[in-house]
Amino acid sequence: MTETKTMLEVSGLGHRYGGGGGHQAIADLTFQVRTGELACIVGPSGCGKSTMLRSISGLIKPTAGDVRLGGAPVNGVPTDLAVVFQDYSRSLFPWLSVRSNVEFPLRSRGLSKAERRSRADEVLEWVGLGAAAKKYPWQLSGGMQQRVSIARALACRPSLLLMDEPFASVDAQTRFELEDLLLRVRKQFDSTVLLVTHDIDESIYLADRVFVLSKSPASIVADLEIPLGDERDQITTRESETFVHLRSEVARLLDVRSAQAPAAAAAETIEKSTVDDTTKQLAEAEKADAHN
Ligand SMILES: Nc1ncnc2c1ncn2[C@@H]1O[C@H](COP(=O)(O)OP(=O)(O)O)[C@@H](O)[C@H]1O
Ligand SMILES: [Mg+2]
Repeated sequence: MTETKTMLEVSGLGHRYGGGGGHQAIADLTFQVRTGELACIVGPSGCGKSTMLRSISGLIKPTAGDVRLGGAPVNGVPTDLAVVFQDYSRSLFPWLSVRSNVEFPLRSRGLSKAERRSRADEVLEWVGLGAAAKKYPWQLSGGMQQRVSIARALACRPSLLLMDEPFASVDAQTRFELEDLLLRVRKQFDSTVLLVTHDIDESIYLADRVFVLSKSPASIVADLEIPLGDERDQITTRESETFVHLRSEVARLLDVRSAQAPAAAAAETIEKSTVDDTTKQLAEAEKADAHN
């Protein structure tokens, strides 16, 4: 009998920005992601999804609860974790080629130049960008840039891949292509993935399991197994009775009719500032690396 292992364990996670009188972004999140699972967290804009991912990835220190990755407590940014953000244009380095962008995080992981090159070429092949290795991010479409971000994350062979609304900034057709790409590569690399989105259909289409969040401050209101099988198709899966039923169930849980627009605009601003911070951190790491 094979035992199902837990990759990520989040217990009583809470975060309040700005101390005692500040803003409670997430309330009390408890959930687990199993090894090899693709879990989606769906919640309205502004409910605290990015705050949760930042806490899990060690980018911010949560004010309550704890996070364990592979059984070990997360303090600071773990090296066996990779994050893909929504805003690809700010998370890639414009002065580096596609291949160098993908190789970049491997430098601090002690791989030789040849190993870095072969890993980068392998993942670029997998995301369909083998021919674009020497191009620069600004020469690529948005969807292709997001493929580079995904390749960069996979090149690290993370034990957990975190994705924060990774397909929210591309057109509908590209979004479908990227969703299917994710389903293919997670099989190829046997990845464990935690993806957050505000898009109900996307969460169901991609996931083995969907956690539904309440409005801010977020807590988990449902944990749904998604029995759609391994072979999914953008047309037939979305038409299936199971899919349609799950979509209504999640919509009811989210109470979409009372969703508010202003929170979305506020969250958008925050999102950008966080990506900027992350890019800054990466740039500093690169400078430090260049001196070594
Ligand atoms: N750095 C911050 N300082 C203060 N409040 C913040 C900060 N980041 C996010 N928030 C607030 O916390 C709430 C949750 O934000 P966020 O985690 O970005 O939500 P989501 O990703 O679900 O859209 C929002 O009300 C947002 O305005
Ligand atoms: Mg967000």
